Amino acid sequence: MIATEIEKKSIRQEIRELAKMKNALILAHYYQRPEIQEVADFVGDSLGLAKKAKETNHKIIVFAGVKFMAESAKILNPDKRVFLPDMAAGCSLADNCRPKEFGEFLKKYPDHVVVTYVNTSAEIKAMSDVICTSSNAEAIVRKIPSDKKIVFAPDANLGRYIIKQTGRDMVLWNGFCIVHEAFSVEKLINLMHEHPDAVLIAHPESEAHVLNMAAFVGSTKKMIDYVKQSEEQTFIVATEAGILLKMQEEAPGKTLIPAPANEDNSCHCSECAFMKVNTMEKVYNCLKNETPEIILDDQLIKDASVPLNRMFEWA
Ligand code: 13P
Ligand code: SF4
Repeated sequence: MIATEIEKKSIRQEIRELAKMKNALILAHYYQRPEIQEVADFVGDSLGLAKKAKETNHKIIVFAGVKFMAESAKILNPDKRVFLPDMAAGCSLADNCRPKEFGEFLKKYPDHVVVTYVNTSAEIKAMSDVICTSSNAEAIVRKIPSDKKIVFAPDANLGRYIIKQTGRDMVLWNGFCIVHEAFSVEKLINLMHEHPDAVLIAHPESEAHVLNMAAFVGSTKKMIDYVKQSEEQTFIVATEAGILLKMQEEAPGKTLIPAPANEDNSCHCSECAFMKVNTMEKVYNCLKNETPEIILDDQLIKDASVPLNRMFEWA
Protein backbone atom coordinates (compact mmCIF):
# COMPACT_ATOMS: atom_id res chain seq x y z
CA MET A 1 0.00 0.00 0.00
CA ILE A 2 1.37 3.46 -0.81
CA ALA A 3 1.73 6.02 2.00
CA THR A 4 -1.39 8.08 1.16
CA GLU A 5 -3.56 4.94 1.09
CA ILE A 6 -2.30 3.98 4.56
CA GLU A 7 -3.00 7.51 5.81
CA LYS A 8 -6.48 7.42 4.27
CA LYS A 9 -7.16 4.05 5.86
CA SER A 10 -6.01 5.10 9.29
CA ILE A 11 -7.96 8.36 9.29
CA ARG A 12 -11.04 6.40 8.23
CA GLN A 13 -10.51 3.97 11.11
CA GLU A 14 -9.90 6.79 13.56
CA ILE A 15 -13.10 8.55 12.48
CA ARG A 16 -15.10 5.32 12.85
CA GLU A 17 -13.60 4.63 16.30
CA LEU A 18 -14.27 8.17 17.49
CA ALA A 19 -17.84 8.03 16.15
CA LYS A 20 -18.46 4.82 18.07
CA MET A 21 -16.90 6.13 21.27
CA LYS A 22 -18.85 9.39 21.13
CA ASN A 23 -22.12 7.85 19.92
CA ALA A 24 -22.02 10.05 16.82
CA LEU A 25 -23.90 9.66 13.55
CA ILE A 26 -22.02 10.75 10.44
CA LEU A 27 -24.29 11.96 7.65
CA ALA A 28 -22.99 12.79 4.18
CA HIS A 29 -24.58 14.28 1.09
CA TYR A 30 -24.06 12.64 -2.32
CA TYR A 31 -21.88 15.61 -3.35
CA GLN A 32 -19.28 14.97 -0.65
CA ARG A 33 -15.80 13.72 -1.51
CA PRO A 34 -15.75 9.92 -2.08
CA GLU A 35 -13.74 9.16 1.06
CA ILE A 36 -16.25 11.09 3.19
CA GLN A 37 -19.18 9.22 1.63
CA GLU A 38 -17.32 6.00 2.42
CA VAL A 39 -16.79 6.82 6.10
CA ALA A 40 -20.37 8.04 6.69
CA ASP A 41 -23.14 6.05 8.37
CA PHE A 42 -25.64 7.29 5.82
CA VAL A 43 -25.36 9.04 2.46
CA GLY A 44 -28.41 10.70 0.98
CA ASP A 45 -30.21 13.65 -0.57
CA SER A 46 -31.45 16.63 1.46
CA LEU A 47 -34.71 14.90 2.31
CA GLY A 48 -33.19 11.56 3.28
CA LEU A 49 -30.56 13.27 5.41
CA ALA A 50 -33.16 15.45 7.16
CA LYS A 51 -35.22 12.33 7.93
CA LYS A 52 -32.18 10.55 9.39
CA ALA A 53 -31.31 13.59 11.48
CA LYS A 54 -34.89 13.85 12.75
CA GLU A 55 -35.08 10.19 13.77
CA THR A 56 -31.66 9.50 15.20
CA ASN A 57 -30.99 8.59 18.82
CA HIS A 58 -27.26 9.27 18.52
CA LYS A 59 -25.98 12.00 20.84
CA ILE A 60 -24.01 13.77 18.14
CA ILE A 61 -24.56 14.39 14.43
CA VAL A 62 -21.58 15.19 12.23
CA PHE A 63 -23.06 16.64 9.07
CA ALA A 64 -20.78 16.30 6.07
CA GLY A 65 -22.73 18.58 3.80
CA VAL A 66 -23.39 22.29 3.72
CA LYS A 67 -24.53 24.64 6.48
CA PHE A 68 -28.24 24.78 5.65
CA MET A 69 -28.37 20.98 5.89
CA ALA A 70 -26.67 20.92 9.29
CA GLU A 71 -28.98 23.69 10.51
CA SER A 72 -32.00 21.66 9.39
CA ALA A 73 -30.67 18.71 11.40
CA LYS A 74 -30.40 20.95 14.50
CA ILE A 75 -33.90 22.35 13.96
CA LEU A 76 -35.40 18.88 13.57
CA ASN A 77 -33.54 17.37 16.52
CA PRO A 78 -32.57 20.26 18.82
CA ASP A 79 -31.44 18.08 21.73
CA LYS A 80 -28.60 16.69 19.63
CA ARG A 81 -25.30 18.44 19.14
CA VAL A 82 -24.71 19.01 15.42
CA PHE A 83 -21.27 19.64 13.95
CA LEU A 84 -20.32 20.84 10.50
CA PRO A 85 -16.71 20.06 9.52
CA ASP A 86 -16.22 23.52 7.99
CA MET A 87 -18.51 26.51 8.58
CA ALA A 88 -17.46 27.88 5.18
CA ALA A 89 -19.63 25.17 3.58
CA GLY A 90 -22.26 27.60 2.33
CA CYS A 91 -24.59 27.46 -0.67
CA SER A 92 -25.19 30.08 -3.35
CA LEU A 93 -28.95 29.70 -2.94
CA ALA A 94 -28.96 30.04 0.85
CA ASP A 95 -26.33 32.79 0.91
CA ASN A 96 -28.18 34.99 -1.58
CA CYS A 97 -31.51 34.98 0.20
CA ARG A 98 -31.05 37.10 3.31
CA PRO A 99 -33.72 37.79 5.94
CA LYS A 100 -33.88 41.59 5.45
CA GLU A 101 -34.35 41.43 1.67
CA PHE A 102 -36.63 38.42 1.93
CA GLY A 103 -38.80 40.20 4.52
CA GLU A 104 -39.13 43.20 2.20
CA PHE A 105 -39.94 40.89 -0.74
CA LEU A 106 -42.65 39.10 1.28
CA LYS A 107 -44.28 42.41 2.27
CA LYS A 108 -45.30 42.75 -1.40
CA TYR A 109 -47.18 39.44 -1.24
CA PRO A 110 -48.97 39.42 2.13
CA ASP A 111 -51.72 36.99 1.16
CA HIS A 112 -49.39 34.37 -0.38
CA VAL A 113 -48.41 30.97 1.01
CA VAL A 114 -44.62 31.01 1.33
CA VAL A 115 -43.04 27.78 0.08
CA THR A 116 -39.32 27.75 0.71
CA TYR A 117 -36.72 25.36 -0.61
CA VAL A 118 -34.65 23.70 2.12
CA ASN A 119 -31.51 25.40 0.69
CA THR A 120 -32.03 28.42 2.98
CA SER A 121 -30.85 29.63 6.37
CA ALA A 122 -32.80 28.92 9.56
CA GLU A 123 -33.96 32.57 9.59
CA ILE A 124 -35.51 32.26 6.12
CA LYS A 125 -37.18 28.98 7.12
CA ALA A 126 -38.69 30.74 10.13
CA MET A 127 -40.28 33.30 7.76
CA SER A 128 -41.90 30.55 5.63
CA ASP A 129 -45.14 28.58 5.74
CA VAL A 130 -43.76 25.29 4.48
CA ILE A 131 -40.38 23.94 3.42
CA CYS A 132 -39.70 21.59 0.51
CA THR A 133 -36.75 19.77 -1.01
CA SER A 134 -36.22 19.00 -4.68
CA SER A 135 -37.64 15.58 -3.91
CA ASN A 136 -41.05 16.74 -2.66
CA ALA A 137 -41.44 20.31 -4.02
CA GLU A 138 -44.12 19.29 -6.51
CA ALA A 139 -46.10 17.33 -3.90
CA ILE A 140 -45.90 20.22 -1.42
CA VAL A 141 -47.13 22.77 -3.99
CA ARG A 142 -49.97 20.44 -5.03
CA LYS A 143 -51.12 20.36 -1.38
CA ILE A 144 -51.86 24.08 -1.43
CA PRO A 145 -55.51 24.85 -2.30
CA SER A 146 -55.84 26.20 -5.83
CA ASP A 147 -57.38 29.50 -4.66
CA LYS A 148 -54.24 30.34 -2.65
CA LYS A 149 -51.43 32.40 -4.15
CA ILE A 150 -47.88 31.14 -3.69
CA VAL A 151 -44.42 32.63 -3.24
CA PHE A 152 -41.65 30.14 -4.04
CA ALA A 153 -38.07 30.83 -2.96
CA PRO A 154 -35.15 30.94 -3.45
CA ASP A 155 -34.43 28.73 -6.51
CA ALA A 156 -36.05 30.22 -9.61
CA ASN A 157 -35.10 27.23 -11.81
CA LEU A 158 -36.78 24.77 -9.47
CA GLY A 159 -39.70 27.21 -9.14
CA ARG A 160 -40.16 27.44 -12.92
CA TYR A 161 -39.97 23.66 -13.19
CA ILE A 162 -42.69 23.25 -10.52
CA ILE A 163 -44.85 25.86 -12.29
CA LYS A 164 -44.52 23.79 -15.47
CA GLN A 165 -45.36 20.55 -13.66
CA THR A 166 -48.31 21.83 -11.61
CA GLY A 167 -49.67 24.70 -13.72
CA ARG A 168 -49.65 26.87 -10.56
CA ASP A 169 -48.84 30.52 -10.96
CA MET A 170 -46.13 31.23 -8.38
CA VAL A 171 -44.17 34.38 -7.54
CA LEU A 172 -40.47 33.46 -7.65
CA TRP A 173 -37.47 34.77 -5.74
CA ASN A 174 -34.67 35.10 -8.27
CA GLY A 175 -32.03 32.80 -6.78
CA PHE A 176 -29.95 30.13 -8.45
CA CYS A 177 -27.35 27.47 -7.80
CA ILE A 178 -23.96 28.40 -9.24
CA VAL A 179 -23.20 24.73 -9.92
CA HIS A 180 -26.38 23.89 -11.83
CA GLU A 181 -26.22 27.13 -13.83
CA ALA A 182 -22.73 26.20 -15.00
CA PHE A 183 -23.62 23.52 -17.54
CA SER A 184 -22.56 24.33 -21.07
CA VAL A 185 -25.48 23.72 -23.41
CA GLU A 186 -23.19 23.72 -26.43
CA LYS A 187 -20.93 21.05 -24.91
CA LEU A 188 -23.96 19.13 -23.70
CA ILE A 189 -25.47 19.01 -27.19
CA ASN A 190 -22.12 17.87 -28.63
CA LEU A 191 -21.92 15.18 -25.97
CA MET A 192 -25.44 14.01 -26.81
CA HIS A 193 -24.42 13.74 -30.48
CA GLU A 194 -21.33 11.73 -29.50
CA HIS A 195 -23.50 9.40 -27.40
CA PRO A 196 -26.83 9.18 -29.24
CA ASP A 197 -28.02 6.33 -26.99
CA ALA A 198 -27.30 8.21 -23.77
CA VAL A 199 -30.22 9.38 -21.64
CA LEU A 200 -29.92 12.87 -20.17
CA ILE A 201 -31.05 13.13 -16.54
CA ALA A 202 -31.01 16.41 -14.62
CA HIS A 203 -31.45 17.95 -11.19
CA PRO A 204 -34.29 20.52 -11.15
CA GLU A 205 -31.90 23.29 -10.06
CA SER A 206 -30.62 23.20 -13.67
CA GLU A 207 -31.72 25.83 -16.16
CA ALA A 208 -34.90 25.33 -18.19
CA HIS A 209 -33.07 24.59 -21.46
CA VAL A 210 -31.27 21.67 -19.77
CA LEU A 211 -34.45 20.44 -18.07
CA ASN A 212 -36.36 20.62 -21.35
CA MET A 213 -33.82 18.28 -22.99
CA ALA A 214 -33.79 15.82 -20.07
CA ALA A 215 -35.61 12.49 -20.13
CA PHE A 216 -35.83 12.56 -16.35
CA VAL A 217 -35.73 15.37 -13.76
CA GLY A 218 -35.43 14.66 -10.05
CA SER A 219 -33.55 15.07 -6.78
CA THR A 220 -30.16 13.41 -6.34
CA LYS A 221 -31.75 10.32 -4.78
CA LYS A 222 -34.40 10.12 -7.49
CA MET A 223 -31.74 10.41 -10.19
CA ILE A 224 -29.88 7.45 -8.66
CA ASP A 225 -33.09 5.41 -8.42
CA TYR A 226 -33.94 6.25 -12.03
CA VAL A 227 -30.59 5.02 -13.36
CA LYS A 228 -30.84 1.90 -11.21
CA GLN A 229 -34.24 0.85 -12.50
CA SER A 230 -33.84 2.02 -16.12
CA GLU A 231 -33.33 -0.47 -18.92
CA GLU A 232 -31.05 2.04 -20.67
CA GLN A 233 -27.28 1.66 -20.35
CA THR A 234 -25.72 5.11 -20.73
CA PHE A 235 -26.63 8.32 -18.89
CA ILE A 236 -25.48 11.91 -19.05
CA VAL A 237 -25.85 13.19 -15.51
CA ALA A 238 -26.60 16.90 -15.07
CA THR A 239 -25.87 17.58 -11.43
CA GLU A 240 -22.84 17.84 -9.16
CA ALA A 241 -20.35 15.12 -10.08
CA GLY A 242 -20.05 13.73 -6.54
CA ILE A 243 -23.28 11.82 -7.18
CA LEU A 244 -21.48 9.53 -9.64
CA LEU A 245 -19.89 7.50 -6.83
CA LYS A 246 -23.14 6.22 -5.32
CA MET A 247 -24.86 6.09 -8.71
CA GLN A 248 -22.16 3.78 -10.04
CA GLU A 249 -22.29 1.65 -6.87
CA GLU A 250 -26.07 1.31 -7.20
CA ALA A 251 -25.95 0.68 -10.96
CA PRO A 252 -22.60 -1.04 -11.53
CA GLY A 253 -23.10 -2.03 -15.16
CA LYS A 254 -24.18 1.39 -16.42
CA THR A 255 -22.07 4.04 -18.15
CA LEU A 256 -22.31 7.43 -16.45
CA ILE A 257 -21.08 10.61 -18.10
CA PRO A 258 -21.04 13.88 -16.12
CA ALA A 259 -22.69 16.79 -17.95
CA PRO A 260 -19.96 19.24 -19.00
CA ALA A 261 -19.51 22.59 -17.29
CA ASN A 262 -18.78 25.89 -19.07
CA GLU A 263 -15.41 26.23 -17.37
CA ASP A 264 -13.01 23.40 -17.93
CA ASN A 265 -11.66 21.89 -14.74
CA SER A 266 -9.82 18.67 -13.98
CA CYS A 267 -12.98 16.54 -14.11
CA HIS A 268 -14.70 18.44 -17.00
CA CYS A 269 -17.76 18.35 -14.79
CA SER A 270 -19.62 20.48 -12.28
CA GLU A 271 -18.34 20.52 -8.72
CA CYS A 272 -19.77 22.39 -5.74
CA ALA A 273 -16.86 24.20 -4.07
CA PHE A 274 -18.98 24.58 -0.92
CA MET A 275 -19.53 20.84 -0.60
CA LYS A 276 -15.90 20.15 -1.32
CA VAL A 277 -14.52 22.32 1.52
CA ASN A 278 -15.16 19.35 3.82
CA THR A 279 -12.22 16.95 4.02
CA MET A 280 -11.51 13.80 6.00
CA GLU A 281 -9.18 15.77 8.26
CA LYS A 282 -11.93 18.28 9.00
CA VAL A 283 -14.43 15.48 9.71
CA TYR A 284 -11.90 13.91 12.08
CA ASN A 285 -11.07 17.21 13.80
CA CYS A 286 -14.67 18.25 14.28
CA LEU A 287 -15.54 14.89 15.80
CA LYS A 288 -12.47 14.94 18.04
CA ASN A 289 -12.65 18.59 19.14
CA GLU A 290 -16.47 18.90 18.96
CA THR A 291 -16.29 22.08 16.95
CA PRO A 292 -17.48 23.87 14.80
CA GLU A 293 -20.96 23.37 16.24
CA ILE A 294 -24.30 24.55 14.87
CA ILE A 295 -25.71 26.85 17.55
CA LEU A 296 -29.13 28.34 16.96
CA ASP A 297 -31.28 30.49 19.19
CA ASP A 298 -34.09 28.50 20.90
CA GLN A 299 -36.82 30.75 19.51
CA LEU A 300 -35.37 30.49 16.00
CA ILE A 301 -35.37 26.69 16.26
CA LYS A 302 -39.00 26.79 17.39
CA ASP A 303 -40.07 29.12 14.57
CA ALA A 304 -38.15 27.28 11.85
CA SER A 305 -39.31 23.86 13.03
CA VAL A 306 -42.98 24.64 12.26
CA PRO A 307 -42.62 24.92 8.44
CA LEU A 308 -39.92 22.25 8.36
CA ASN A 309 -42.04 19.69 10.22
CA ARG A 310 -45.02 20.73 8.10
CA MET A 311 -43.05 19.44 5.10
CA PHE A 312 -43.03 15.96 6.66
CA GLU A 313 -46.77 16.19 7.43
CA TRP A 314 -47.67 17.27 3.89
CA ALA A 315 -45.42 14.99 1.85
P1 13P B 1 -30.92 17.18 -3.21
O1 13P B 1 -32.02 17.50 -2.28
O2 13P B 1 -31.39 16.61 -4.49
O3 13P B 1 -29.90 16.33 -2.53
O4 13P B 1 -30.19 18.54 -3.63
C1 13P B 1 -29.46 19.30 -2.75
C2 13P B 1 -28.64 20.30 -3.42
O5 13P B 1 -28.03 21.14 -2.83
C3 13P B 1 -28.60 20.24 -4.87
O6 13P B 1 -27.70 21.14 -5.35
FE1 SF4 C 1 -25.94 24.97 -2.97
FE2 SF4 C 1 -25.68 24.43 -5.54
FE3 SF4 C 1 -23.82 23.59 -3.87
FE4 SF4 C 1 -26.28 22.47 -3.87
S1 SF4 C 1 -24.77 22.40 -5.50
S2 SF4 C 1 -25.12 23.11 -2.08
S3 SF4 C 1 -27.55 24.25 -4.35
S4 SF4 C 1 -24.32 25.73 -4.33
